[in-house]
Amino acid sequence: MQQIKHWLLAAAVGLSLPVAATAGTADLVKEGEKIFTTKNLGNCLSCHAANGKKIDGPGSLGPKLTGLSVWPKKALYDKIYDPYTTNPISAMPPFGKNGWLDDHQIQALVAYLKTIH
Ligand code: HEC
Repeated sequence: MQQIKHWLLAAAVGLSLPVAATAGTADLVKEGEKIFTTKNLGNCLSCHAANGKKIDGPGSLGPKLTGLSVWPKKALYDKIYDPYTTNPISAMPPFGKNGWLDDHQIQALVAYLKTIH
């Protein structure tokens, strides 16, 4: 009986973990989307159209974002943290290096960008 209890417990823990992870990711994606579209946060939409959203601002500085789901997370993180490391003449500001967005906010943006096909 004791063994069955253990097994049941292990099964319950094993089942609940992936569910929790999925819920956490969904929250992070939502938070990232908010940062992407909010003017005094990321304000990414002022330069980038993405996921059916149209540029909201002076615009046309940045490319329309597509196919980002295949980018490694680190590449997306680095791009937001400091685009000059991969493109020294980028017109995109270094959101992390400038201290405009913290680590958690950039992680949330990365989670959102990974949903852009
Ligand atoms: C002032 C305009 C501007 C803003 C604001 C801006 N970007 Fe950019 N972004 C650019 C430009 C220009 C490029 C192309 C040059 C480059 O790759 O560095 C670019 C490139 C990118 C790329 C690479 C796209 C590709 O297909 O190569 C990603 C990802 C990206 N931006 C994400 C973001 C995110 C996320 C934000 C908000 C935190 C943001 N950008 C805000 C101008 C901007």
